Amino acid sequence: MASATIKRIPTSALRTGMFVHDLDCNWMDHPFLSNKFLLDNVQTIQKIASAGIRHVYIDVSQGRDVEEAPTAQEVQAAVQSQVEQLAAKPSEESKTSVAEEVDRARALFREATSVIRNLMEDVRLGKQVEVESIDPMAERMVQSVFRNHHALTGISRIKTKDEYTFMHCVSVAGLLITFARAQGFAEQDIHQVAIGGLLHDIGKTLTPDEVLNKPGKLTPEEFEIMKGHVTHSRDILQETLGISQTALDISVLHHERIDGTGYPLGLSGEQISLIGKMSAIVDVYDALTSVRVYKEAWEPSVALKKMLEWSPAHFDRTLVQHFIRCLGIYPVGSLVALESGLVGIVLEQGKDLLRPQLRIVYNGRKRCYEKVRDVDLGNNQNDRIIATVSPADHGIDIGAFL
Ligand SMILES: [Fe+2]
Repeated sequence: MASATIKRIPTSALRTGMFVHDLDCNWMDHPFLSNKFLLDNVQTIQKIASAGIRHVYIDVSQGRDVEEAPTAQEVQAAVQSQVEQLAAKPSEESKTSVAEEVDRARALFREATSVIRNLMEDVRLGKQVEVESIDPMAERMVQSVFRNHHALTGISRIKTKDEYTFMHCVSVAGLLITFARAQGFAEQDIHQVAIGGLLHDIGKTLTPDEVLNKPGKLTPEEFEIMKGHVTHSRDILQETLGISQTALDISVLHHERIDGTGYPLGLSGEQISLIGKMSAIVDVYDALTSVRVYKEAWEPSVALKKMLEWSPAHFDRTLVQHFIRCLGIYPVGSLVALESGLVGIVLEQGKDLLRPQLRIVYNGRKRCYEKVRDVDLGNNQNDRIIATVSPADHGIDIGAFL
């Protein structure tokens, strides 16, 4: 993607004879089987536009060129500079350290996943949702986030493919609690945010398994069935006693997009409430950073940068910036490579978000595991992060080191 022959152009500038290198959007939002293809008919251009894709990367070495368009390198540099401007403005400090909270957060995440699994089973069997059954869990999650939000959000990065549906609900709840707190929501509203996060995909209980867990790209018909989970959620939650408007908004609005290309209502801009806009950001971030039956997990910092690039079309840019400030540029649980060749897991954020505390586990130059030790980049100006690394590349089990 860093090649100078790759350019980013608006979808409206697409012409036949161009070679599409990448559709600049979340893979879940488009109906194409591949991201790379020669544009040989206008129907495909129309299909790209009607899928809500605003920008496309083209490879001008393999197809028609355009004069005025930034290269992929220029786009990446612009996003990087936006991210670096956030580096000196981390969100407020935590009451406890990640190390003190992480075991509680791990147990809580496991327990909450089991509560949601049972709840979804019950709904599938026709039972009504009882908010009281998840109230205590929601409150414990709020308290964990208030002690240290990086512990629960870092732990929830580690998911299994087959438990994705349930783990995603728990993870979205933890991220939304974190985000709502940083936005200054009142504590009783944050509790409702937690309930809304846990229940946001409850309608998936009515989505057929073969669509929900299909190990590949959905056909357009299957995608329509998948989209129906939002309406199912709304129908289920409207029948739920004691459900708040905040929780309903999270469930009904998390697939809406600022430019009106989302679903089910196609709302745009200020038609989407603040919590609706926040839910969209959190939902996509968690989906991108999760391993699925058909894809590997993206590294958190890669996902955050991509989301910044997709805003303001899909997301409120200022809110994406605030979200990055909550989690850090390299969120806890990220694997990063240093200039010295050392590779480490992010343990804690520092005052400078580009210089977190790390647990060193690997040496990329020597290609061998290192004696495990902690390094605070805030106190070590001789080294710096130069890239994010996929744990799968070195067979590193992040969960074992947190
Ligand atoms: Fe959803």
